[in-house]
Amino acid sequence: MKVLVIGANGKTGKRVVRNLVASRHEPVAMIRSVEQKTTFDELGAATVLGDLEYPIDHAVRGCDAVIFAAGSGGKTGKDKTVLIDHIGAIRSMVTAAVQGASRYIMLSSINKDPKSESKIMHYHRAKAHADDFLHGMHEIMPDHPKIEWTIVCPGGLTEEAETGTVRVGTDPHVSGQTSRENLAATLVACLDEPATIGKDFTLLDGETPIAEALKGV
Ligand SMILES: NC(=O)c1ccc[n+]([C@@H]2O[C@H](COP(=O)([O-])OP(=O)(O)OC[C@H]3O[C@@H](n4cnc5c(N)ncnc54)[C@H](OP(=O)(O)O)[C@@H]3O)[C@@H](O)[C@H]2O)c1
Repeated sequence: MKVLVIGANGKTGKRVVRNLVASRHEPVAMIRSVEQKTTFDELGAATVLGDLEYPIDHAVRGCDAVIFAAGSGGKTGKDKTVLIDHIGAIRSMVTAAVQGASRYIMLSSINKDPKSESKIMHYHRAKAHADDFLHGMHEIMPDHPKIEWTIVCPGGLTEEAETGTVRVGTDPHVSGQTSRENLAATLVACLDEPATIGKDFTLLDGETPIAEALKGV
């Protein structure tokens, strides 16, 4: 599959692109500036310029799948959390449907909750609203082909080495950590595991090999 990686220049996004290059899939890295292109040229991955605050039809066109690994981060204002993590995410979902992508993988978060009262409730609410849209998207856009979606909710992200072993669950209200290496490997592995279609699950570092964990979600 030709896979658009949104947020490709991020710490997780770069690892997702690397995993895709090593897989049978073909990545297209969506980046925000030409200076970021060199990294992907060196990896042998195609790039396209795009910004979630503006239409991204040109970036999604021709892709079979989208992996969303973008985020406004903790250093921008709460307005950017709404504009990128919530509205930008939904923009990418609608664009994927309109442009005929058949698969969509969302990098979400544990503790997402539309009624969150956490210290980062603006973020946890934004992620929950975006994910809820994906859950019910086909009902409100029945004229577009149904997208096969998967939502992966990691814990606190770390720079630890890949262990290839994880723990999955369905209750988003958990605590724990997830290495970006394990996360990126999992996001890419979801493309090839039909059992993950229509599933929304947490992903923490654990003891179960990724492929085995994904069969059981
Ligand atoms: N940090 C955690 O502990 C944690 C826990 C659970 C879930 N998460 C989720 O995991 C995501 C990825 O984490 P990370 O550490 O890999 O993030 P990161 O390194 O901050 O990467 C985020 C990427 O999003 C891109 N981006 C920001 N605004 C954009 C826009 N308007 N249009 C297109 N792309 C845009 C950034 O582009 P530039 O490179 O151009 O700036 C960057 O490449 C987070 O955003 C968060 O939602 C994080």
